[in-house]
Amino acid sequence: MQTDTLTVTSSTSSYPVVVADGALATLPQRLGALGLQGRVWLLSDTTVLPLHGAAVVAPLRTAGYTVEPFAVPAGETSKSQTQLDAIYAWMLGGAVERRDVVLALGGGVVGDLAGFAAASILRGIPVVQLPTTLLAMVDAAVGGKTGINHPLGKNLIGAFHQPRLVLADTTTLTTLPPRELCAGWAEVIKHGVIKDAGLYTELQNLAADYCHPAQAAQGSVVTWAAGDPRFSAIIRRAVAVKVGVVSRDEREQGERITLNYGHTMGHAIEALAGYGTLLHGEAVAIGMHIAARIAASMGICDLGLVKSQRALLHAFGLPTSLPAGLDAQALIALTLRDKKVQAHKVRWVLPTTIGNVVIRDDVPEELVRAALRS
Ligand SMILES: NC(=O)c1ccc[n+]([C@@H]2O[C@H](COP(=O)([O-])OP(=O)(O)OC[C@H]3O[C@@H](n4cnc5c(N)ncnc54)[C@H](O)[C@@H]3O)[C@@H](O)[C@H]2O)c1
Repeated sequence: MQTDTLTVTSSTSSYPVVVADGALATLPQRLGALGLQGRVWLLSDTTVLPLHGAAVVAPLRTAGYTVEPFAVPAGETSKSQTQLDAIYAWMLGGAVERRDVVLALGGGVVGDLAGFAAASILRGIPVVQLPTTLLAMVDAAVGGKTGINHPLGKNLIGAFHQPRLVLADTTTLTTLPPRELCAGWAEVIKHGVIKDAGLYTELQNLAADYCHPAQAAQGSVVTWAAGDPRFSAIIRRAVAVKVGVVSRDEREQGERITLNYGHTMGHAIEALAGYGTLLHGEAVAIGMHIAARIAASMGICDLGLVKSQRALLHAFGLPTSLPAGLDAQALIALTLRDKKVQAHKVRWVLPTTIGNVVIRDDVPEELVRAALRS
């Protein structure tokens, strides 16, 4: 059990992050060990609750917990004030108490929404993250960022609220649609590129074993193999990167910005293509390719890195070229609206070698335009 567990240790909190096949069965004993003995407010979405709700509810009820389940509609539009109000009405109407706990069972949407509800109701009650998408496991569930969208932009209303526990049961990924799984691999690859060359090599090995070169032309990609422990080991290693970064930089004062690799242009592509056209991970994959091209053109990394990263992204079913019709100037303008812009300068996260990145705010616009053209 111990080897499945990582720990986030920041200046304000410390919590376990567990990544394992079948981890949900251990939830009652883990809640008990954390002293969480009140009522359980299980928040999920309309897709995940029917698929995985029973794996949470049954063991908790057997252990004597009172569980109140609630599902918001699946999808990004649920990260809204309307759904937040519905959650407040459900919890306050049910006489929620400070000793209770919110469980967030689902992808990043449920995690962000439930996290923010827990952060704000009764001035804050405990939350436990139970991520069921690859993206949420390796990224969204760890680090304590919670929030909802506003008509004026994504993730503009929110709070830092660290979970008491993150429990990622990798068996839940067997029901995840393949496209959503691929989108999650983008963040796993990103973690390898920014911080862990060994993880990157393991991903290459997985690709070599699961994605036969002879079929590459037909678009053969790594698919999820239930029962192969290498998958959960790789996910755990990717989670360890995020755990390390947020432990050292909880509030994004420094190192945490490296997690933004591929996101500067990724966010712009996502927005200009129209939300829902590309999944977040797909846009990030294209953004990583563009960032690597910029780095190569500045002499920060060699062209071999660009080619290697592109091959790996393709092996995991991810795109590296812009959708047709996106205007380069409009994309560049959107990068200036990135939340990480400082003094009107875009802060680019650029790879130097696999496992290492630098932050640069002096990237000439001409090089960005050239990378977009190529
Ligand atoms: N808080 C953070 O640090 C952070 C970091 C990255 C992303 N995010 C947020 O995460 C959100 C995206 O998360 P996501 O990609 O997980 O999207 P999501 O939560 O919308 O899930 C994607 C889809 O998969 C379905 N699904 C989830 N788990 C499933 C399973 N096991 N089987 C079958 N279907 C399943 C969902 O119902 C949904 O339709 C965005 O809102 C983004 O802003 C937050």
